[in-house]
Amino acid sequence: MPLSLIVHGGAGTHRPADHLSVMETCRDAVAAGRAYLQQGGSALDAVEAAVRILEDSPLFNAGYGSVINADGMCEMDAMIMEGERGMIGAVGGVKRLRNPITAARLVMERTPHHFLIAEGAERFAEREGLIVVSPESMIAPHRLSESGDTVGAVALDGAGHVAVAVSTGGLHHKMPGRIGDSPIPGAGGYAEDFLGAACATGVGETIMRSMLTFRAVQMMSAQISAQAVADAVMPIYARFEGDGGLIMVDKQGRVGFAHNTPLMPVAWIDGDEIKAQMSR
Ligand code: GLY
Repeated sequence: MPLSLIVHGGAGTHRPADHLSVMETCRDAVAAGRAYLQQGGSALDAVEAAVRILEDSPLFNAGYGSVINADGMCEMDAMIMEGERGMIGAVGGVKRLRNPITAARLVMERTPHHFLIAEGAERFAEREGLIVVSPESMIAPHRLSESGDTVGAVALDGAGHVAVAVSTGGLHHKMPGRIGDSPIPGAGGYAEDFLGAACATGVGETIMRSMLTFRAVQMMSAQISAQAVADAVMPIYARFEGDGGLIMVDKQGRVGFAHNTPLMPVAWIDGDEIKAQMSR
């Protein structure tokens, strides 16, 4: 079984001056996740580790790089899902968590629930020992420059399990309280061991309406590769008039990605190498 991992740094645009750093950070994210896979770790470990690297960078719209809402604050959403049992953990509208993806994983593993929001999610994360910061300290100085939308990762591990992780600051100047697609299973991400996993980026309202990642995962089969599905699902998504893209991994470990925005930085394991590109 090949070990597979692909990450994206958000569909949209990035300043040309940032392109090299963006690709390098996406490579770092894959390297962090690959280290888990190579040591026999799970796809869940790999996608969480990869997304944490992207959340910690001010270059991406997630975690420390999150855009601001209409009140001038960062309000973040994240979700993680594993394909064996279809377990999910998600947080929404959090303002004080440096790594929302880890809070999402803790929701999955240490609560009877799947989705916690706002102060309740933050209080839970603090009790679990996560770093909780002031909302103001989440506003990275770079924020006024261009960055893509959302970060994410999908992986297949040596035991044949798939997983997806997605994290976002959402839409720039969104209404306070607005939740996008990212923490919604089947919209921002979806994973099913018999088929594969997918992670979306783009305008959350259209991704939710199209159930983009559920749709994409259901289109996968042994005969149809992740790349073929990624290509086939984008014209369907276009009918919902949204900008965005997705990354995918299929049960055979083949990765795929597609987008209709100018850029969508990606990096993935390719044999012994890690490849990175700013767009397809
Ligand atoms: N795709 C992220 C969002 O719309 O919130």
